[in-house]
Amino acid sequence: MPHSDFARKIAITGGAGFIGSNLLQHMVRKYPDCLFVNIDCLTYAGNLSNLVGLEQAGNYRFEKIDIRDNQALAACFEKYQFDALIHLAAESHVDRSITGPADFIETNIGGTFNLLEIIRRTTQDGSSFRLHHISTDEVFGSLGPKGYFTEKSAYRPNSPYSASKAASDLLVRSYHKTYGLDVVTTNCSNNYGPYQFPEKLIPLIINNARNGKPLPVYGDGKQIRDWLFVTDHCEAIDLVFHKGIAGETYCIGGHNEMENISIVRLICKLLTQRLGCQPLDRLIQFVTDRPGHDRRYAIDASYIKSQLGWEPRFTFETGIKMTLDWYLENQAWLENCVSGEYRKYYETTYSNR
Ligand code: NAD
Ligand code: TYD
Repeated sequence: MPHSDFARKIAITGGAGFIGSNLLQHMVRKYPDCLFVNIDCLTYAGNLSNLVGLEQAGNYRFEKIDIRDNQALAACFEKYQFDALIHLAAESHVDRSITGPADFIETNIGGTFNLLEIIRRTTQDGSSFRLHHISTDEVFGSLGPKGYFTEKSAYRPNSPYSASKAASDLLVRSYHKTYGLDVVTTNCSNNYGPYQFPEKLIPLIINNARNGKPLPVYGDGKQIRDWLFVTDHCEAIDLVFHKGIAGETYCIGGHNEMENISIVRLICKLLTQRLGCQPLDRLIQFVTDRPGHDRRYAIDASYIKSQLGWEPRFTFETGIKMTLDWYLENQAWLENCVSGEYRKYYETTYSNR
């Protein structure tokens, strides 16, 4: 079907990553009259096998483009004449931002700036264009033992990752205030679920535990994150993208505050039961803390609930069991991530097109 025949043409950046691929699996099937174009340059975190099954969908396309490349982006916008963009592409791992911040600045700030400029030029003729910018609660910095982040919380980022996301949020805000772009921003808490690259806490612990490797816990392990199952996040994005008010920001969280050490112990307990092996918590190792490590994140999601009726559907208890099942059933996916084999998927699937 020609691009122009679709009701809407929606670009999704970072669609080969963890949240982007879950979002595409949700949106492509739910909105068959819309065209979804996945713009992703396939960094180490981009894995097209996360999107298996979508290649056959008539309303899905993939474009291997780096959002730092202005010309390639402009050509892609010219080709598809997008009506909207959901922007997830980013360098996303705090530990990597500490050892190598440059990519975070270039992609998260520079790439977002490129997209904003293209949208500004595209909309100069008065056409409407919705930009949904996906961000994190980490922009608000660290909480003490009490209180929650809300849409009114001050920006106090502490890592190069969160600082780069904060800068991109502010750029997006400024393009709404200055140029009138139709933007919405969501700040979400830590996600977990299928297709998360095994460098983040939950898939790393699952992968190491099943391989009998040490389970590194930073510092005293009492840092708190507010965990959200990824499909709950995707449903929130769907709602805000379609119904959010231009210029607004929405905080999204799971009401699931957990200490890191409790999560690691829970995964050990569940995996030990499943595998029928010696208790896996013997593998826990407390290691040197991450510099600038935020102590606690927690979201008050009452605004998105009252405005758009969104609430998480999965408790952590349910979500973590589903996640564990998924990783155990998809050990080949995990092994391909760790070995780098997943990169071949692009070559075999797309190289002849
Ligand atoms: P991810 O690291 O799994 O995926 C990022 C994707 O972006 C990859 O497919 C990668 O190839 C792509 N990408 C990176 N640099 C690019 C560039 N220069 N050009 C084109 N593509 C590029 O990340 P994720 O966990 O899915 O996070 C997605 C978004 O959600 C990010 O913006 C992140 O800040 C935000 N977020 C993540 C979480 C979380 O817990 N994972 C929570 C809140 C917000
Ligand atoms: P992570 O998944 O990297 O997400 P973020 O830093 O964006 O919150 O880490 C979640 C928490 O787990 C964080 O407090 C750091 C901690 N952590 C460990 O204790 N050990 C690990 O090996 C990793 C990757 C994280």
